Amino acid sequence: MSAAGMTTQAAGGWRYDNVARAFHWLIVAMLVAQYSVALLLGAILPKSAEGALITWHFSMGSSVCVVMLARLAWRLTHPAPPPPADLSPGLRLLSRATHWAFYAGYIVLPVLGWAAASADGARVRLAGLIPLPLLVPKDDPFGKAMQTVHPVIAITLLALIALHVAGALYHAFIKRDGVVGRILPGRGAGAA
Ligand code: HEM
Ligand code: HEM
Repeated sequence: MSAAGMTTQAAGGWRYDNVARAFHWLIVAMLVAQYSVALLLGAILPKSAEGALITWHFSMGSSVCVVMLARLAWRLTHPAPPPPADLSPGLRLLSRATHWAFYAGYIVLPVLGWAAASADGARVRLAGLIPLPLLVPKDDPFGKAMQTVHPVIAITLLALIALHVAGALYHAFIKRDGVVGRILPGRGAGAA
């Protein structure tokens, strides 16, 4: 495609453009870090580390929101490559729904986390730098409810990631149709 930043054709197949691929792997790295801290370190480290972990959780989580907003803006202005022609309508729908659930989920989830933190009177710094106001007043019932809902949504999205990775492995090792090459970094890994 000729317009800058559109999908490119390489090795006989349409690929995501450089920016979309960079966004994909940046978000993967950020979420690996975010989930590791939220789920693993909290359980392993002593209580005295809790404050630092929570500050980190707010900083990284709010950064995910900002990066996902930028990624969404890029996606809405730069179309993705078409799905493989032989993909069944059911799988096509499932993969599209999963992708859009990631965009919506990783923008909304941090906002609900912000509400959960605000209900405890905890201050959040966007990306660890810019102080944000309380999103809801201290002890607000909606914010309190988000202290339960936010982790549930976080784990639901994690289950979707498992599904998404299973789909990628299916394309890579069973169908061997080059779909994974569309999102991998580097050149020349387009669909065969
Ligand atoms: C992609 C972004 C995020 C992910 C994946 C995520 C994930 C999680 C997970 C898995 C938990 C449960 C931890 C546990 O119970 O051991 C949790 C708790 C929490 N998160 Fe997040 N989070 C994100 C962003 C945020 C943000 C931006 C904030 C605040 C600004 C936040 C505030 C909280 C709070 C306050 C809790 C504790 C709820 C409670 O038990 O009171 N989160 N988060
Ligand atoms: C944190 C985990 C991940 C998230 C949130 C995520 C999210 C996404 C999203 C939103 C898209 C759609 C891009 C678009 O059309 O706008 C996508 C595409 C893709 N992802 Fe992931 N991804 C994750 C991890 C992975 C991993 C570990 C792999 C393994 C190789 C992978 C493989 C792919 C592939 C192959 C595509 C392209 C699908 C296609 O061409 O239709 N993803 N991912």
